[in-house]
Amino acid sequence: MHNLRKHVIGVKLGSRLGESLSSGLAVALMKIVPPDNLAAEMLRVAALVEQALDVLLPPIEGAEGRLAEAMRYATLNGGKRLRGFLVIQAASLFAVSQTCAARVAASVEMLHAYSLVHDDLPAMDNDDLRRGKPSAHKAFDEATAILAGDALQTRAFEILAEQDTHSDPQARCELVAALGAASGARGMAGGQMIDMLAEGQTLDAPAVTRLQALKTGRLIQYSVEAGAILGRASPQDRHVLAAYGRDIGAAFQIADDLLDVEGSDADLGKTAGKDEAAGKATMVSVLGVEMARAHADMLARQAAAHLEGFGDRAAYLRELAAFVVARRN
Ligand code: IPE
Ligand code: IPE
Ligand code: MG
Ligand code: MG
Ligand code: MG
Repeated sequence: MHNLRKHVIGVKLGSRLGESLSSGLAVALMKIVPPDNLAAEMLRVAALVEQALDVLLPPIEGAEGRLAEAMRYATLNGGKRLRGFLVIQAASLFAVSQTCAARVAASVEMLHAYSLVHDDLPAMDNDDLRRGKPSAHKAFDEATAILAGDALQTRAFEILAEQDTHSDPQARCELVAALGAASGARGMAGGQMIDMLAEGQTLDAPAVTRLQALKTGRLIQYSVEAGAILGRASPQDRHVLAAYGRDIGAAFQIADDLLDVEGSDADLGKTAGKDEAAGKATMVSVLGVEMARAHADMLARQAAAHLEGFGDRAAYLRELAAFVVARRN
């Protein structure tokens, strides 16, 4: 825990990550000195994901070029790449090729970016700031932001279905089905529906837990399981990774709720203090700050404990659980 805090302070992760990577220096350094701490490994993986996104979302000529530009705007140079990190780390437990894992990581980051673009729209959270920049509907316009979200979502599935993602079509089908289940009406989109309906309502802790499991948890759990699917993991290993993904996903959203109360716009790269103003049902609104933090910490420890059987191979994933609740953005 102490070490992790040091790393997080030592390397500014989050919205400024893209800037530090764009020089290519981080990528070059990682090739000379293998990462020996979580922050360095997150930078290495973020660079890998960034490269994959850049290749998989090329600019387009002609009238639809504006759409491709908005898709790139919403996806490149930003974010912690947590979901991509989970794919790549889980895949590395099963010696999956980094090229295949990076495609799946880029795919889930596209799906996630779409969810953020739509989440920020005036009809939803009405947020003008995202990843330290104007939200997509501010930088472009609402119609373009809606379409960019749509096209990022379909591109995410298209990539999973392509042959370069896995030599076994069965694995590709499993990835497509799992991402669909995690992001549809019984996953992220369903959770977003509950989140919108709950504005101004008083939910109890179990109801908020379910809301968060759907809107955030399912996609995070998918990210971990995607690594297991790529690696053709045994049902037992996949089960353990799914349990880790569920707990780290729950901890992650509670940490997001806490940061909304305790963080600043500058730290977060998005508008702080919006949840209370919008009457959102969050773990902070039902439990208060102290109990919400204690609950998130408990879930993070529980997440790490699931992975003991993997030994040192899962060290980064275990450390990540502590990072998720200690993070500043
Ligand atoms: C923000 O997710 C939205 C939630 C589900 C809480 P992240 O905090 O992972 O956002 P980025 O990708 O780092 O910008
Ligand atoms: C968003 O939750 C979850 C998504 C599916 C995008 P929030 O509305 O709390 O995310 P932020 O705080 O705007 O990033
Ligand atoms: Mg929201
Ligand atoms: Mg929001
Ligand atoms: Mg939030």
